[in-house]
Amino acid sequence: MNFKEKYDEYLKEFNTALERFCERLDCRPQILCDSIKYSLMLGGKRVRPVLALAVCDLLGVERRKVINFALAVELIHTYSLVHDDLPEMDNDDFRRGKPSNHKVFGVGNAVLAGDGLLNTAYSILLKECKKGVEYVSAAEFICDCAGIYGMIAGQSADLLHENDESCDENTLNFIYENKTAKLIIAPAVIPSILSGGRCFSELKTFGHDLGILFQLTDDVLDVEGEFSQLGKSIGKDDAEGKYTSVGLYGLDGAKLRADVMAERCRTLLEGIDGDREFLIEFVDYVRGRKK
Ligand code: IPE
Ligand code: IPE
Ligand code: MG
Ligand code: MG
Ligand code: MG
Repeated sequence: MNFKEKYDEYLKEFNTALERFCERLDCRPQILCDSIKYSLMLGGKRVRPVLALAVCDLLGVERRKVINFALAVELIHTYSLVHDDLPEMDNDDFRRGKPSNHKVFGVGNAVLAGDGLLNTAYSILLKECKKGVEYVSAAEFICDCAGIYGMIAGQSADLLHENDESCDENTLNFIYENKTAKLIIAPAVIPSILSGGRCFSELKTFGHDLGILFQLTDDVLDVEGEFSQLGKSIGKDDAEGKYTSVGLYGLDGAKLRADVMAERCRTLLEGIDGDREFLIEFVDYVRGRKK
C-alpha cells in the first residue's frame, strides 16, 4: 500500500467515527448543533487523528483503543480554529475552503460552538477514563496539551506579541511549541501511554519537532500558498502583524528551518523499532504540503 492509500485508510477509519459522533449529536437549539457540525464536517486534513492511528501501527497498539482520543483531539483542534478565526483573534473569513464559523452563524454562536466542541471533547475523555488507569493518564495528557500550559498559552502569547518589534526567537519558540506543537505531541504519544509508555520520550520529541515543522510550513504557506488549495486567506499574518518565522528568518530561512526539523523527525523515527515507512513519508508530506 502506498502513502496515499494508507493515509486514506486512516482517514476513512477516523471519518467513520466522526460521522457517527455527528449523527448522534442532538443538542438544542438547532443552531448550536448546526454550527458545531458545520466546522467539524467542513473537511480538514485530519493530520492529528491520522498521526494517532499511524503511531498505533508503529507500536503494535490496537487502533480502536485510540479512536475516541483521536476524536477528542480533533474536536479540540476544531474549537481552536473556530476561536482563532474570530474578529478579535485572527479575523479570518475563510476556513477549510468555506466561510468561517462566525461568518455563517455570527460571533456569539461561533464562541458557543467552540465552547461546545471543547466541552464535548472533555466529556469523551472522561468516559474513556472508566476503561483503566492508562486511559486516565492519556486523558490527562491531552488536557495539559490543550489548556493553559499548552495551546491556550500559545494562542495568548500569539495575540500578545502582535506588532511587537522587540520579539525574539525564544518568544517565537514558546508560541510555536504551545499553540501548535502541543496538539501534535498529544496524538503522537497517546498510543504509547496506552501501552505502558513504550518509546514515550522519543515520540514526544518527534511530536514536538513535527509540530514545529507544521507551523513553519503554515507560515510559509501564508505567504506562498494558494487559497484554492489552502482553503484559508493568504497574507493574513502580515496583515495582522503576527510574529512568525517568515518575519524573523525570512522566507528562505523559514524553509531551511523546516528542512532541519524534517530531518530531526526522520532521525527520531529511525531510532524506533517497527514499521516506520508511513511516518517517514508523513514527515515529507508535512514538509511539502500545499494545503
Ligand atoms: C491549522 O491546522 C492550524 C495550525 C495549527 C497551523 P491544520 O492545518 O491542521 O488545519 P485543518 O484541520 O487541516 O483545517
Ligand atoms: C494556529 O495558528 C494555531 C491554532 C489555531 C491553535 P494560525 O493562526 O497560524 O493558524 P491558521 O493559519 O489560522 O490556520
Ligand atoms: Mg492564530
Ligand atoms: Mg489564524
Ligand atoms: Mg497560520
